[in-house]
Amino acid sequence: MPNIAVPKQLTRTVISARGLTKKYGDFAAVNGISFDVPAGESFGLLGPNGAGKSTTMRMIGGVSQRTSGELAIMGLDPEQHGPEVRAHLGVVPQQDNLDEDLRVRDNLIVYGRYFGLPYSYLRPKADELLEFAQLSDKAKAKVDSLSGGMKRRLTIARSLINEPKILLLDEPTTGLDPQARHILWDRLFRLKEQGVTLVLTTHYMDEAEQLCDRLIVVDKGQIMAEGSPAALIREYSTREVLELRFGSERNATVAAQLEGIGERLETLPDRVLIYTHDGETSLEQVSARGLHPVTSLVRRSSLEDVFLRLTGRSLVD
Ligand SMILES: Nc1ncnc2c1ncn2[C@@H]1O[C@H](COP(=O)(O)OP(=O)(O)O)[C@@H](O)[C@H]1O
Ligand SMILES: [Mg+2]
Repeated sequence: MPNIAVPKQLTRTVISARGLTKKYGDFAAVNGISFDVPAGESFGLLGPNGAGKSTTMRMIGGVSQRTSGELAIMGLDPEQHGPEVRAHLGVVPQQDNLDEDLRVRDNLIVYGRYFGLPYSYLRPKADELLEFAQLSDKAKAKVDSLSGGMKRRLTIARSLINEPKILLLDEPTTGLDPQARHILWDRLFRLKEQGVTLVLTTHYMDEAEQLCDRLIVVDKGQIMAEGSPAALIREYSTREVLELRFGSERNATVAAQLEGIGERLETLPDRVLIYTHDGETSLEQVSARGLHPVTSLVRRSSLEDVFLRLTGRSLVD
């Protein structure tokens, strides 16, 4: 068996996965993925629903047993050293699992007691975390009176009670409105500035672009690509994208007449995408062929384009 538990002082890798696999019967939810996360990095798993993101997070968190492969958190196998590994981790699961019977501040205190932390530590810590989560004025409120964004911030505050070095966030902003998402992104950015290693999953390409230093694109339990958002876009897409809409009936037929413009063409049900280094010039070429879209838009390439290129599908369906 290869030993990947390298001593901490020799490496700054805090999470290491090799051939990590999780099967449910014959079905591989996670199918042999390998990655390393260095300390202080904000590392993402970007992929659509069912890609295996939550399953991977649960294996890292030590609450799901892997079928095969190697996994080390701070050099320790979470299946062999559960309590030690959990002491280093903060966990924000995909579904909030706050205690609805307890008031906001008490959720933090009671959770801290599970770690065996004393009240003398927990009381000031809870107040500090409520301040951080912008929930101080809700300290005595009932959990079920909180908005979705507030619940998410409380779950994050709770995950920080043991001052973890690594924070696992499974879809931190799914289901939240844009304003609530931005508040959350700001809080996560602060944690990153404080040196906390962030591992987050998302199917939102803008979230991945905002928060991740580096990410893996996952689909059907496998890694399709790995790199920084900018490097992935450079490698798998062009600088610009020209989006054309000819009306739902016509996109596919017109696409044939666009051949040769730009580097590459994608035909979606509602629009045609021309991948190009210069969107405006490509648009002039479209007009020169006597084609007149209902709408046209030139934009920069995004991780959505990377995903489309890699899988032939959209991230969000
Ligand atoms: N307990 C389970 N039993 C059987 N299949 C599961 C179980 N949990 C997850 N799966 C399947 O594994 C795949 C990956 O799930 P998941 O890790 O939740 O994906 P993601 O978080 O990327 O949406 C999905 O096809 C899902 O249906
Ligand atoms: Mg999930």
